[in-house]
This record gives sequence, C-alpha cells and structure tokens, in this order.
Amino acid sequence: MMPIRIGVIGCGRIAQVMHLPFLVELPEFDLVALSDISHDVLDKLSDRYRGTSRHIEYAELLARDDVDAVAITTPDHAAIVEAAARAGKHVFVEKPLCFTPDEGRSLIEAVETGGVRAMVGYMRRFDPAVVRLLSELDDLGPIRIVRAIDTHGMRSVPFDIYSLAVPPESPRDVSDRLAAAIGTSDRRLTELYWILLNLGVHDFSVLRALLGAASEVTGVELLGPQHFVTALTYDADVRVVLELGFWSEHTWNDTEVEVVTDTATARLSFPNPWVKYQSTTLRRRIAGEGGTTESLEPGSYHSSYREEWLEFYRAIIEERDPLTTVYEGLADVELATRIVSAVRPEQLDALAEHA
Ligand SMILES: NC(=O)c1ccc[n+]([C@@H]2O[C@H](COP(=O)([O-])OP(=O)(O)OC[C@H]3O[C@@H](n4cnc5c(N)ncnc54)[C@H](O)[C@@H]3O)[C@@H](O)[C@H]2O)c1
Repeated sequence: MMPIRIGVIGCGRIAQVMHLPFLVELPEFDLVALSDISHDVLDKLSDRYRGTSRHIEYAELLARDDVDAVAITTPDHAAIVEAAARAGKHVFVEKPLCFTPDEGRSLIEAVETGGVRAMVGYMRRFDPAVVRLLSELDDLGPIRIVRAIDTHGMRSVPFDIYSLAVPPESPRDVSDRLAAAIGTSDRRLTELYWILLNLGVHDFSVLRALLGAASEVTGVELLGPQHFVTALTYDADVRVVLELGFWSEHTWNDTEVEVVTDTATARLSFPNPWVKYQSTTLRRRIAGEGGTTESLEPGSYHSSYREEWLEFYRAIIEERDPLTTVYEGLADVELATRIVSAVRPEQLDALAEHA
C-alpha cells in the first residue's frame, strides 16, 4: 500500500487529541509535515512527531512536493482550503467549512479547478451507531419526526486527561465576516450564527444522512442569548426539531438524535467528542403484538475520527467524492444563514428585555 503523504495545518487541541495520533497510527497515511503559527506548539510537537518538517507559514508546507494531502485543523479554514486546492493538495478540513457562503463558493471553485478530493470532518457521519441506524431505517418505517438536541457545556472538555501543547489564544475578529453572511451585525444574531456554525453543522450532517436536504426553516424560538430551538422541514415533509446552545456551567454535552416512526423510536446518544474511544449508543423501542421491545445496542469502540480518516483515504485512492463533501459543508453554512433569517424581530426585543 502506498500511504498518502499528509501535512497538518493547525496543530492545536483537536489535532493533538485526535487527528495527529490517528494519522501516525494508520498505515494509510505518512505524516510528513506540520504547520502552526505558534513556535511553541511546533517546538513541543517536534519531539513527538520526529522526522516531520515544520512550518510557521502554511504556504511553505503547501509548496512541498512530498505532501499529497493536508488536514486543515485551524480555527479559520476557507482561505487555507482554497490555497491548498490551488496547490493541488487533497484536503481534509475541520468543520465549519467556512464562515460565509461566498467563501464556500470560492473555495469550491478552487477545489474543482485543482481536481483534488476535499472532505469536511463531520465525524458523526462515520460513527458506527449512525451507520447502524441508517442501515435499519427501511425496517423502522417512514420517519414522522426527528428530535435533535446539541448543547455544549463550556466546562465539558477534559483537557487534563491529555498532555497537550496548548496554543496561545490568538485574538481574531471574524465578526465582519459573520455579519456579511447573515446581513446584519446585530450581536444577538451573529452569536446564534456562531452556534450554528460550530455545533449545528454536525447535526445537519446527520440529519442529511437520515432525511436528505432541508427544504424549509419553519421557525426559530429563542430561549436565551446562547440557546434556541429551530423547526425544519426536510424532503418527504419530515419535521425536525433541533435544540442548540451553550451552557456556561455544564460539565457535559447533551447530544442526541431521536428518530420517530409509527412503530419505533430510535435514539442516538453521542459521547463527549473530546474523549477517545467512547461509544455512541443506539437505543430502540419497537411496538409489537406483545407490547414494547426495548434494546440498547452495545456501543462499538471504533472511533468516528479514525473512520473518517479511512474514508478520506479511500476517496483519494478510488478517485471519488468522499461521503462528506465541501458541497455539503457549503449547504450547511447556507442553512445556518436561513435559520438566522427566520428569527422574528420581536423575539430579539424579548431577548433584550430578558437580559
Ligand atoms: N469535529 C469536532 O468535533 C471538532 C472538535 C473540536 C474542534 N473542531 C474544529 O477544529 C478546529 C480547531 O479547533 P481546536 O479546538 O483544535 O482549536 P485550537 O485553537 O486549539 O487549535 C488551532 C491551532 O491552529 C493554529 N493556527 C491558527 N491559524 C493558523 C494558520 N494560519 N496556520 C497554521 N496554524 C494556525 C493555532 O496556533 C492553533 O495551534 C476548529 O475549526 C473547530 O471547530 C472540531
């Protein structure tokens, strides 16, 4: 097997916890280069990832002939994806793909022109429990409603279980770009958009796998400055209710997707995404002649982060689109803008009074 020679751009927390260890472990990849704007991070990682070249400027990494593909795990992706595609490198990019639909369209043009494979890191799509549920959908009957919740506890990330080279906080102001995407600089709305870009897109990727494309945003209910519920209609007229938010004191996340049919309810409960090898559970309730049959699928220890790397590898080798494309990444950013547009002005007034 010829491994894909890969460079990682942005060697911060998620790269150190998940991507770099898997890239080193998997024989499908050969980790050859690292880039980070922090000298300190690059110095500390040099001991762990010996033999890799190191670059403060990602353009230097992109110019290397011994790099076939890149992982873009910085906080801000669009310009780097575009540059990588123009340099002829295959691209794996963390979510969200971009901060504005225009950025997404521009980078897609570069991906198409460069003829490279490009994949968004929606790891839940590769989660064994999600794959299992998808394979069972036909048996469960037509979906009537999907209830999803994705709330993030700001104290939920257990960084102390890892030895990380923590990057310095890099002050960055993306507020102009968020405002350009949603057509307003109202901080209450840019905050909602930010939550959608950072949490909601993961849910959109699973919902797409279950239901196809979202056809309509039927409503948004604001519950607080960082907490809201949205109702969506998908293909085949299936309704989705999605709750999103940040809780400042929670030390956990609530991340669930529940599929309801006439005779069954199947619920996926996702683990903390920062803890390796925790399994997602799939709990089913099925109505039968004798009453309810309830089952809890034993979780698989296969990591969705590892599975997504294998998909990236296969997409390159088989010269096909990966399962989670940049087109989907763009569609999700567009859906986020549509949800923000559905907020009614009087709700914002109520929010101001509440605060
Ligand atoms: N899939 C998931 O569940 C998941 C989980 C966590 C984070 N993420 C995503 O991963 C990305 C990174 O998150 P993180 O928590 O690791 O952030 P982080 O701040 O810990 O790391 C980002 C790193 O990128 C570096 N960087 C910034 N600009 C750079 C540039 N121009 N060139 C090279 N390096 C640069 C920083 O110095 C830092 O080391 C974000 O987009 C986030 O949304 C996804």
